[in-house]
Amino acid sequence: MRPKGRLKVLVTDKIDPKGLEPLAADPGVELQMAVGDAAKWGEFVGGTHVWLVRSETKVTDAWLGKAKALRLVGRAGVGVDNIDVAGASRRGIAVINAPAANTISACEHTWALMLSLARKVPAADASMKAGAWDRSKFMGLELAGKTLGLVGLGRIGREVGKRAVAFGMKVLAYDPYISEKQAEAMGLELKPFKDLLGESDFVSLHVPLTEKTKHMIDAQSLSWFKKGARLVNCARGELVNDADLAAALTSGRLAGAGLDVFDPEPLPEGSVLRKAPNIVLTPHLGASTAEAQLKVAEELSRSVLEFSARGVVRNAINLPGFDPDLLEAMGPWLNLAETLGRFLGQTMDGGLKEVRCRFLGDFPAPQRHPLAVAALKGALSSILEESLSYINAPILALERGIVHTEASAPAPEGYARLLEVTAVTDKGERAVSGAVAEDGSPRLARLDSLMVDVTPRGKMLVLSNSDEPGMIGQVGTLLGRHGVNIADMRVGRRAPHGEAVMVITVDEDLTPELQSELKKVKGIRTVRWVVL
Ligand code: NAD
Ligand code: MLT
Repeated sequence: MRPKGRLKVLVTDKIDPKGLEPLAADPGVELQMAVGDAAKWGEFVGGTHVWLVRSETKVTDAWLGKAKALRLVGRAGVGVDNIDVAGASRRGIAVINAPAANTISACEHTWALMLSLARKVPAADASMKAGAWDRSKFMGLELAGKTLGLVGLGRIGREVGKRAVAFGMKVLAYDPYISEKQAEAMGLELKPFKDLLGESDFVSLHVPLTEKTKHMIDAQSLSWFKKGARLVNCARGELVNDADLAAALTSGRLAGAGLDVFDPEPLPEGSVLRKAPNIVLTPHLGASTAEAQLKVAEELSRSVLEFSARGVVRNAINLPGFDPDLLEAMGPWLNLAETLGRFLGQTMDGGLKEVRCRFLGDFPAPQRHPLAVAALKGALSSILEESLSYINAPILALERGIVHTEASAPAPEGYARLLEVTAVTDKGERAVSGAVAEDGSPRLARLDSLMVDVTPRGKMLVLSNSDEPGMIGQVGTLLGRHGVNIADMRVGRRAPHGEAVMVITVDEDLTPELQSELKKVKGIRTVRWVVL
């Protein structure tokens, strides 16, 4: 995985230079600095192997398309919403972040905003500097005895929660991915989102930006807040609808808001937020401490040096959090598992209920779970639009009530190892099995119980039919008449004149007319189109 020669590392955001020193000092690394200068990125990006950013650089699909040699994107911080992670995964580019290095700084900044709201420190300070001495105007409130509602109970949310207890606050949390047991162990009470908003005096957001969290604070959810509550957002600007928040502050429904993050950043000069009453604003300073910046840079440097020395990426967010040595050893099997899952996802009928992985033959135990997750990710890829990763696939499946199971059995005759993936839907089951050939390429060996031998790639037409004379000729003629070139054709059957399958790899797309003509051919039962 590690490219030959010196590793070119491009840095396009301000990252602590001391933390980057180990990279600068390494003879195997060529550091290319182009901070904030997009014109210069263009110069470097085509040949760079590693791209290090904070949040200002947007690593878009277009940039990734230009970055032909890129193997690794490193984010000096937590949120990777400025990186097209799905685009990177598609291109086999690993994305890493420094998830824990700025947790404490972000947590402490949350408290800076919370205390500023409770004691009106910024407004009092501004008034003093303007020459006033106005004690009555800045009457505050105590945190002790109040209720804090944490939305998101990850690294930062938990730290904020711990400190809230020390302030004598009651702490509620909303996080659908945390169990009651875990929350209990932290001394917190889990609540549904609406109830949490209705019961909290302070609400603090600590969730990532996702399709689900975008604008989770809008006119409707603001109407669920306890009257006179205060909101803190140190996570992502996109979580909040600015106009709705400004209206809630103006009407007095909310007594205050402390914001560190905005959509877009920098916050436009004319934004409604700048004029809203009882608001405290900071320009994305959550991680801006000397300690956090040094830690994120050091953490990234360590990861890049490990990649440079061993060609492995530990804890990439778009690869399973499994041992890189193990992943390397599994190599093509992981690819096969995902391909089988994708094949099934595109050929199954009905709502998916289960993805079952059967390991036939000698699969070392540590390899089984990563393979099952890869198959699940593949199967989900045709039904979910969200950016899927090995990390989120099991969670997203669970959310939709899709289970994934693993089982082992002896290998069938003729195979040392065969991987079988079954999609169970509300309309039935479909299974596909495959193995890795000696040259490392994936092979599809069985479709349901019919033997085939196909390389699963490109555009494939999968037909189930009755085994009758002339069937292959009819299909070939039809494809030819529509100008569709056949690259490969495999057939399998259960018994003469019985159930059969044709898997045809073609060069062109199938038009809807051609698909419906194929369906009309006597003896053809189903026509499925798969693009891998
Ligand atoms: P984390 O991944 O440890 O925690 C996020 C939590 O949110 C998880 O527990 C997850 O289960 C939960 N979650 C996900 N979707 C949810 C939903 N729809 N509803 C409720 N909960 C949901 O992340 P973290 O390190 O705690 O960071 C949290 C956020 O803070 C991120 O967006 C990060 O980018 C941001 N952040 C901002 C700054 C800053 O400078 N202001 C600094 C660091 C992190
Ligand atoms: C993060 O996601 O880590 C924060 O937004 C902090 C940052 O980018 O500086």
